[in-house]
Amino acid sequence: MRVVSGIQPTGNLHLGNYLGAIKQWVAMQDAMGPGEECLFFLADLHALSQPVVAAELTSNSIEMAATLLACGIDPDRAILFNQARVPAHSELAWILGGTARMGWLNRMTQWKDKAGKSGESQSVDLFTYPVLQAADVLLYQATHVPVGDDQKQHLELARDIATKFNNDFGVELFTLPEPFISKAAPRIMSLRDGSAKMSKSDPSDGSRVNLVDSDDLIVQKLKKAKTDPEPLPATFAELADRPEARNLVVIYSALAGITTDAVMAEYGGKGFGVFKPALADLTVAMLGPIRDRLTALLDDRAAVSGALAKGGARAAAIAAPTLAAAQRAVGL
Ligand code: ADP
Ligand code: NA
Repeated sequence: MRVVSGIQPTGNLHLGNYLGAIKQWVAMQDAMGPGEECLFFLADLHALSQPVVAAELTSNSIEMAATLLACGIDPDRAILFNQARVPAHSELAWILGGTARMGWLNRMTQWKDKAGKSGESQSVDLFTYPVLQAADVLLYQATHVPVGDDQKQHLELARDIATKFNNDFGVELFTLPEPFISKAAPRIMSLRDGSAKMSKSDPSDGSRVNLVDSDDLIVQKLKKAKTDPEPLPATFAELADRPEARNLVVIYSALAGITTDAVMAEYGGKGFGVFKPALADLTVAMLGPIRDRLTALLDDRAAVSGALAKGGARAAAIAAPTLAAAQRAVGL
């Protein structure tokens, strides 16, 4: 089993990113047995599909890598790197661009959603994004790719490209990757509005817990989190139309690693005067050590770059024979 997954580099990560994305990667890494491996990369080339500010892209990449390391990605077990430092991604993407068809890309719903009426003013990279994604995984002969609903179509496309390439050139080169179905990631909502996603782009800092927040700030934000005057009910299902209360229970369950009903078994009948301090204690206990590691790594960016460079070298070594075989197959 070889799992390959990428994430766009962003800075100022928050509790929603941790519980909804990063924690899943750590769980995948921890689930790997002997002879299995995870390759995790920062999709910095994909970031170019939207306008970028150079200095921001650089610092976001370092911040994202530091966050992954602080949250438990172990660079001795998982292979952590940035895409741009492994040129084989770009090289294979160009080769696969000869196999992929315009019509296939035109049918991608993400392109259709983002392109607007004509797509005329979009970058070429936004259109060919799924070809680079295909290269990202086919390059490593990935057997499994974790995908959310929004990415299923792109993984299908990677399989179509691999199949057509293998057929067109009469080779058994590319492994067809399967979707990796992991435990559903929780969706964390804003602390101020239970109908909005917790997001770094929310102008209210009180709407989210940032991974760099101090213990005091975490406590203060959770104390001020919007709720309602009712005590917690006996079962999670009864919270269906109480989105803010529901969200706090989801956060508790995800941080504690227990089911939402187990949370209700403990706190059902109790009010937020009891539940919020318990949630604040748990959050500080779980995020405090992450923040401390993150702060130390952000003060030692050379160490983060070093870890990425080491991962990049390991990734490049795995990629080399597949890229060479693809070049041979097409006559380069
Ligand atoms: P943001 O919405 O803060 O800009 P991104 O869009 O950069 O976050 O998302 C990075 C990763 O974190 C994605 O895998 C995304 O699904 C996950 N994620 C972001 N916000 C949340 C959230 N509120 N709950 C769960 N997962 C989230
Ligand atoms: Na976003």
